[in-house]
Amino acid sequence: MKQVKVGIIGGGLMGRESASAFGRWFAFSDIAVQPVLLAVCDLDESVLEWYKKVNTIEQLTADYKELLQNKDIEVVYVAVPHNLHEQFYVDVLESGKDLIAEKPFGIDLFACQKIVDKIKETGRFVRCSSEFPFLPGPQRVIDYAKSGSLGKILEIKSGFHHSSDLNVDKPINWKRMIKFCGEIGVMGDLGMHAVHLPLRLGYNPISVYANLQNVVKERKNDKGELVPCDTWDNAILHTRIEKEGHVVPMALEMKRIAPSETNTWYIEIIGTKGGVRYSTKEPKTFWTFVMDGKAQKWCKEDLGFQSVLPTITGGIFEPGFPDCFMQMLGTYFAERDGTLGDRFHCATPEEALRSHQLFAAALVSSKHHQVVSLI
Ligand SMILES: NC(=O)c1ccc[n+]([C@@H]2O[C@H](COP(=O)([O-])OP(=O)(O)OC[C@H]3O[C@@H](n4cnc5c(N)ncnc54)[C@H](O)[C@@H]3O)[C@@H](O)[C@H]2O)c1
Repeated sequence: MKQVKVGIIGGGLMGRESASAFGRWFAFSDIAVQPVLLAVCDLDESVLEWYKKVNTIEQLTADYKELLQNKDIEVVYVAVPHNLHEQFYVDVLESGKDLIAEKPFGIDLFACQKIVDKIKETGRFVRCSSEFPFLPGPQRVIDYAKSGSLGKILEIKSGFHHSSDLNVDKPINWKRMIKFCGEIGVMGDLGMHAVHLPLRLGYNPISVYANLQNVVKERKNDKGELVPCDTWDNAILHTRIEKEGHVVPMALEMKRIAPSETNTWYIEIIGTKGGVRYSTKEPKTFWTFVMDGKAQKWCKEDLGFQSVLPTITGGIFEPGFPDCFMQMLGTYFAERDGTLGDRFHCATPEEALRSHQLFAAALVSSKHHQVVSLI
């Protein structure tokens, strides 16, 4: 396997998830390229300490510019708070390295546009993180939607729900503050997950009416003081797309306060001839709607492990979050290497930009209680 030297900037939750995926790369049974984790940057000493168990690491630093000066590193994965995206992504690109960039790809539309401009200027290979479509279920949804089995599309629902913020006593962190997370709040946090597959299927919103909620307005900081918790917790975007000359409603939901949900990613597409439905709540269940004579039926199928890239894992075993994240990283390196072919690829900078255009329009819609056009 061809080796590619990798660095991580931001070694927190997602940095560790990436390191873990790089560490079990041998689970891919047919991939031409292997990332080797060489360097990690984080401000937090205890975070860097964790990476000492990764035996390929040669550099641990608190200064990301020091990591970017490392000439051996070809690709950088960046997973830092949203207020740092623009500066860090631009600096990675200017240092001559390729980039795997965490969503939302800039704190707002303006930052995202700056990053996209820099990608065009430098010509570097960049993709945005969004892993759920790499589960076997969403892959089957894509095949079904493309097969023509839906007939005329009637409606689309796509979303991502969790309840991490349901506990009002949970202390505040950067994801609950506009200055770090962005004015788009939960849309920046969960929005790319909800829009990635619809955008890839060509379901581009032409208008949006947004219901945004800030349910918990104050939380305690690490000193026990109540401070403003000013980001949107939940967002329901009523969008409209145009498909084959007719209008289709598409509901996009992102919720950090969805009681009973942990990490529920779902999509449902209903048409006049068929329908398809998948949710990580039932991770190996794939639903299709069929009309059998006069009867209308939802059919349930158990899925196995088949994703985009083949692995050594048993075909009937069930996948989870680390698996789809690893698949996403695998396709990044395969696409960069020119060996992915026409298989499903990571979210592109253009898709990230379109997501930001939608979220910016949603802010306007919520402020004025109006439908906002995107064309
Ligand atoms: N793809 C996904 O499913 C997913 C899930 C969660 C978060 N994310 C995204 O990943 C990114 C990071 O989120 P997270 O949950 O890993 O956050 P986190 O808080 O767990 O980790 C962020 C890390 O960045 C470090 N950091 C902060 N400022 C820094 C600086 N100036 N230089 C170097 N390191 C610095 C922090 O010390 C921290 O360890 C965000 O963009 C977030 O939206 C993606």
